[in-house]
Amino acid sequence: MRIDIITIFPQYLAPLQLSLIGKAQTNGLLDIKIHDLRDWATDLHRTVDDTPYGGGAGMVMLPEIWGRALDSLLAEPADTRIIFTTPAGQRFSQADANSWAAESWLIFCCGRYEGIDARVPEYYRNSGYQVSEVSIGDYVLNGGEVAALVMIEAITRLAPGVIGNPSSLIEESHNDNGLLEYPSYTKPPRWRGLEVPEVLLSGHHQRIADWRHQASLARTEEYRPDLLPRRVAE
Ligand code: 6GU
Repeated sequence: MRIDIITIFPQYLAPLQLSLIGKAQTNGLLDIKIHDLRDWATDLHRTVDDTPYGGGAGMVMLPEIWGRALDSLLAEPADTRIIFTTPAGQRFSQADANSWAAESWLIFCCGRYEGIDARVPEYYRNSGYQVSEVSIGDYVLNGGEVAALVMIEAITRLAPGVIGNPSSLIEESHNDNGLLEYPSYTKPPRWRGLEVPEVLLSGHHQRIADWRHQASLARTEEYRPDLLPRRVAE
């Protein structure tokens, strides 16, 4: 899987060299390229933004520069998804991670300031590319770099071969059963006066599975009732 990231802060993406994603690059499973948007600026100060038409606060990133950057990456024809990070996008979900993990080439465009001129995603969508405008949640970040890191981690761990033990992908929060993951415990059985639930020490597989399901339900009711099917009013 190939991933390109265009940003004005390439160093923000340095953590991609670490851990599983770093290793997957060394192993040739992932090919991640980070590009400095300013490399496509043409003036002395390498300007990438200007004031918004219609007035208002902040600056908008220039379409000319994004267009040159994307055209140069897209010079090689391929099946490509272009992802724009923006707090005004659709919310990124585990379903997106699953589906994008199966794609061969993703390009992340990290917006800063008040965003990128709206014609940029429109142009590439009209040109036949798969274009997504995505947010990672209902809060505002200074820019899309951290959001791109979040999405790349969620996507690449599902890409074939990146995680050595695929069974660790199965029983996780936000998987198919739609519930949060049950709480986990390890040694010792008693820590600071707190006991591991006895059933987990019992070796009784069915009782353990039932306990975990109940614990998942209780946790979801407490923290994320929005994930539960709505009870029909009587
Ligand atoms: Cl993708 N960008 C910014 N700037 N803020 C966000 C976001 C993205 N997702 C949530 N907040």
